[in-house]
Amino acid sequence: PDAPAPVIVAIDGPSGTGKSSTSRAVAAKLGLSYLDTGAQYRAITWWMLTHGIDVRDAEAVAAAADRPEILSGTDPAEPTITVDGTDASGPIRTQEVTGAVSAVSAVPAVRTRITELQRAIAAGAPTGIVVEGRDIGTTVLPDADLKIFLTASPEARAARRGGELKGSGGRPVDLDATREALLRRDAADAGRKTSPLRKADDAVEVDTTELTLEQVIECVVTLIEEKQQAR
Ligand code: DC
Repeated sequence: PDAPAPVIVAIDGPSGTGKSSTSRAVAAKLGLSYLDTGAQYRAITWWMLTHGIDVRDAEAVAAAADRPEILSGTDPAEPTITVDGTDASGPIRTQEVTGAVSAVSAVPAVRTRITELQRAIAAGAPTGIVVEGRDIGTTVLPDADLKIFLTASPEARAARRGGELKGSGGRPVDLDATREALLRRDAADAGRKTSPLRKADDAVEVDTTELTLEQVIECVVTLIEEKQQAR
């Protein structure tokens, strides 16, 4: 019999909803590739910051958008990202990058460039892929087999993000400040002109506020299996 057609899954939502943990675990369980599109926007932002580009100058950012070479490794067990051949997985998580990424990712030339990379990666995934981000279901992969939109209360999202920051060895974080920074970034991502953070009309919304990570993973796996059986 023919191998099953690759399955394309889009998972969108704001920060702190468990998007990355869920997407990675689901991809690993089902033998699919995994793409963290936020990491790509962080990578191009890091390149701009290290190449003296003023990230508030949209024209300068647009003019440089095609310069860095950005490569994503899509194994869910070990996702990687390199910029011009250098491993960028550490530097893209710094506060400096987090503070600049919304401005860079609002520039249309940046979105065009990164969207092209994303579509090529998705088209090349042998068994299919879980792609997580903000505009995957609405813009990047509008024909995805399944679209999920994860949400959670601002308190839950700030607490999870705070937990992550502590987990990565930093000093204890101020939850109020974390919450404010997170809400500010979401407002910028949802308010921008070009493909803002938005639930696609045909996405399944999952509110994760009262769910454990395991429950969210189980829910998404079930939704994918239902789709595969229906095909
Ligand atoms: O998921 P994250 O926090 O690593 O994403 C970092 C930023 O990248 C986020 O603030 C907005 C931007 N982003 C985007 O504009 N579109 C995507 N598909 C993914 C991320």
